[in-house]
Amino acid sequence: MSNIIEKLFSLQGKVVLVSGAGGAIGRVLSKALAEAGATVALHDIDIDRLKPIQASIEADGGKALSIAADLSDVTACRQLVDTVHDKLGHIDVLLTSAGVNRRKPITEVSADDFDAIIDINLRSVYFLGQAVQPYMAKQGGGKIVNISSLSAKHSFNTISVYAASKAAVSQLTKSMAREWVDDNIQVNAIEPGFIKTEFTRPLWDDEYRSKWFQNFIPQGRLGNPDDLIGAVLFLSSAASTYLTGQAITIDGGVLSGSTWVNPEPENG
Ligand SMILES: NC(=O)c1ccc[n+]([C@@H]2O[C@H](COP(=O)([O-])OP(=O)(O)OC[C@H]3O[C@@H](n4cnc5c(N)ncnc54)[C@H](O)[C@@H]3O)[C@@H](O)[C@H]2O)c1
Repeated sequence: MSNIIEKLFSLQGKVVLVSGAGGAIGRVLSKALAEAGATVALHDIDIDRLKPIQASIEADGGKALSIAADLSDVTACRQLVDTVHDKLGHIDVLLTSAGVNRRKPITEVSADDFDAIIDINLRSVYFLGQAVQPYMAKQGGGKIVNISSLSAKHSFNTISVYAASKAAVSQLTKSMAREWVDDNIQVNAIEPGFIKTEFTRPLWDDEYRSKWFQNFIPQGRLGNPDDLIGAVLFLSSAASTYLTGQAITIDGGVLSGSTWVNPEPENG
């Protein structure tokens, strides 16, 4: 590795806590963070989801440990952070990837649906951040990377609660960044567009929808979890020291705009 790349992007000696590390995106990002040198504290609701990821990181010469916690419980959010700190001595980066969705029109959303989505997508992000801040402040700084969504900025039907939760996460990212700027904690978010995972299977799993996506996304394809690695390494490392309170939308160009119908109307 060249000196400049090492200096800016290496996570050697750093501890990263990844919530929802057993998921399709969390798994890929955890492996990438370990490859960049970090010791990765893998979290998910079920330890069995984590063991193969831990084994794969260790087989590649990396360091990881696995911890289960149900993040719908605020006490469990706090205990997760305390446990990682007790076991590893510091937490340099918190990456919040745990998330849920229930797709329904607004008229059919129940109070239980609403709470289930908000509890994980927003409340756990809030209280994980709150729990990690004193440790990061005491050690002289840290990084928080929240996984928000394109739906924070662009609405789609049947995901109203999810979209509201993610818009709140993008805004919370700014609030945390501002409040903790003097603690040298940089707080940023990524807003992935359509990433091809089980989470989004209902959206792409037939020919018609797949074709619709090819037209809707300017780059002509859904993203892969791999497409998120670069931004997450950037936001987790020294390379982003002067960047805080930002959300990077990684969407294959969706927010860049749309094309006119073909043929283009004469009057533009
Ligand atoms: N897949 C996409 O297209 C996409 C797009 C934008 C944003 N995102 C966001 O990226 C993140 C990861 O998405 P993914 O596609 O990997 O989804 P995923 O369902 O594969 O992963 C989410 C993980 O969160 C964990 N989780 C859910 N409830 C939990 C709880 N109560 N306690 C602890 N862990 C819990 C799940 O066990 C799962 O492993 C989510 O926040 C999601 O909203 C995904």
